Amino acid sequence: MEKLVINGPTRLCGDVDITGAKNAAVAIIPATLLIDGICTLENVPNISDVKMCCSIMQKLGVKIDWLSNHSIRVDTRNISSTIAPYDMTSKFRASYYLLGALLSRCGKAEVGLPGGCNLGARPIDQHIKGFEALGASVTVAQGKISAKANCLIGTSIYLDTVSVGATINVMLASVLADGTTTIDNAAKEPHVVDVANFLNTMGADIRGAGTDIIKINGVKALHGNATYSVVPDQIEAGTFMLAAVASKGDITIKNCITKHLECVTAKLLEIGAHVEDIDGDTLRVWASKRPNKATIKTAPYPGFPTDLQPQMGVVLAIANGTSIINESIWDSRFQYTAELNKMGANITASGKSAVFQGVNELSAAPVYSTDLRAGAALIIAGTIAKGKTEVYNLEHIDRGYEHIEDKFRNLGAKIERVSE
Ligand code: EPU
Repeated sequence: MEKLVINGPTRLCGDVDITGAKNAAVAIIPATLLIDGICTLENVPNISDVKMCCSIMQKLGVKIDWLSNHSIRVDTRNISSTIAPYDMTSKFRASYYLLGALLSRCGKAEVGLPGGCNLGARPIDQHIKGFEALGASVTVAQGKISAKANCLIGTSIYLDTVSVGATINVMLASVLADGTTTIDNAAKEPHVVDVANFLNTMGADIRGAGTDIIKINGVKALHGNATYSVVPDQIEAGTFMLAAVASKGDITIKNCITKHLECVTAKLLEIGAHVEDIDGDTLRVWASKRPNKATIKTAPYPGFPTDLQPQMGVVLAIANGTSIINESIWDSRFQYTAELNKMGANITASGKSAVFQGVNELSAAPVYSTDLRAGAALIIAGTIAKGKTEVYNLEHIDRGYEHIEDKFRNLGAKIERVSE
């Protein structure tokens, strides 16, 4: 078992480079199934979720070669199976994208019901509604979901809830469909736009990604022989913005898209931190005093991202005054607050709200990551707490952050990965 040992407190200062977005990469890699050819993906994050995604694709007959640390060559000419192995897909949330992509390319797919972080109920009814509207028949039984269709026909789909996964999956299923598909109430996250940009680079005709109505004009085929670079990770960049403020540090965040972080920037300015947008790709974030209290409500993009809620929770745990966070996306995203309380925070979570009575400082304790973003929050907490913090359950963190301890160490954190 591995743990991170962090000796704090430290002011985090310096530069950090942001890698490609996990939630774009885990959709774009399955999206390559729509191409009967070869393509190259760059700026691919080297994280365990991506490695799992590549391993599942290889089981389907896809040839994947790592050309460098962040670049893969994908050859989808010889797909040999439409059944994604249950043991692999059931551990990996984004395995649902294999359904849309395989259905579109091969007319059938079978995937284990998706696993991933335990954030409460994670229904996929809107994905299924989309596939059925396009003409597929879908069955869910014995922990597996199967879909098949003789042909998919473009239609209008209104999503009952704004869902990143359902928006991307319906896009994947409709790219090669007969006619035009319209997705209404679509998610607008940067990774939704990135998947559309990737597909359009390969010959798809998708318009409106990034707005709440996406129109997909079905095309006969996608061509390969192109290179696409994955968008920078909005959530990794936001994690370091919040680390800068929590530690009263000064971090320059490079290779991000500052536009994607506007709502985090606005909150940080509100609580008394400083943010400078240097050139659209670089942000400098610094703070010299304890943050002010705030009220946060998570919301789909362009709202405050749920995936930065735990990291923001660390900032508010040491803020001046009483803050409130309302979580509007996931039912169980406050599990990290019990861990922060072990470190001296004073947080009362109930259902989808939490009240943060700000304390002067945190103190070290052994703590457990309950999910990916909770893990990132605990690392930030460990860097600002007095003493030796041990963070366990690193498998959650490694799913979505590449070399996170190296990045924190480069900013001055005294952090080591230790095997027990
Ligand atoms: N929902 C439904 N029915 C559906 C789909 C979603 O009711 O068919 C509900 C969910 O229960 C939730 C809301 O809609 O309340 C939004 O869910 P969404 O489908 O947008 O989430 P997701 O696609 O499963 C992605 C990210 C999550 C991120 C959410 C919200 C990936 C692989 N995962 O999940 O990322 O929290 O969008 O932005 O893209 C993370 O990276 O740590 C992470 C959990």
